[in-house]
Amino acid sequence: MRKPIIAGNWKMHKTVSESVGLCEALDRAVQDVDIEVVVCPPFTALSAVCALAMRKVKIGAQNVSIAESGAFTGEISPLMLVDVCCSYVIIGHSERRQHFGETDAMVNKKVHLALQHGLRPIVCVGESLMQRRAGETEAVVVSQTKAALAGIAQEQVPDIVIAYEPIWAIGTGETASADDANEVIGTIRKTIAEIYGQETAGRIRIQYGGSVKPDNIRELMAQPEIDGALVGGASLDLKGFTAIVRYHEQQQS
Ligand code: 13P
Repeated sequence: MRKPIIAGNWKMHKTVSESVGLCEALDRAVQDVDIEVVVCPPFTALSAVCALAMRKVKIGAQNVSIAESGAFTGEISPLMLVDVCCSYVIIGHSERRQHFGETDAMVNKKVHLALQHGLRPIVCVGESLMQRRAGETEAVVVSQTKAALAGIAQEQVPDIVIAYEPIWAIGTGETASADDANEVIGTIRKTIAEIYGQETAGRIRIQYGGSVKPDNIRELMAQPEIDGALVGGASLDLKGFTAIVRYHEQQQS
């Protein structure tokens, strides 16, 4: 009922020509798969990858401004992202919250603005190691989810993707266990059900992110609440990301 969505967040990696090469090869490698596949290259590569005639892979950006236009040096507006061909945008990644002071209020503003311009937000939520050790995981993701969705109309909710990315699992090789990730994602869905009702909560897609690799994707995707993955490091490599997208072909161990 919910179409799985696997997205690659390339972060600050890849030149224009590297991005074009990877997109072309990936599009060929995953064409027949019944999963939504998105890649989020750096801003500098967006025009070039958008010019490719890709049949399967959709393009997302890694960030968007809180404003449509104006004196915001160094920022990229949602209009500019739509203009190139982006259909998705990552909002509130923990690296932006940690290193660039992005707040829940800014995340909420960006979600509103993205939706207003027809961009689908991939909203990141997740706890730090300290918060997890203090037993605050649930409280953190519930409050980040509520803040991100504040004022969003019910009919827009299915256009949003949420990515649960525990900060301690990002780039560390540590993954949340599939059970743990499923449970936290279940909590996020319950929070959405409390605000918008079961039917809407049953339609929104929630990904897991944090050291997703070819050897753990299958177990994660087997969980009932997990609708996809937001992949960092392993999405930079054609073979690895293709294996993640084609996880259903793996031999049962
Ligand atoms: P890694 O897959 O490298 O842990 O990164 C996860 C992430 O931050 C995706 O947005």
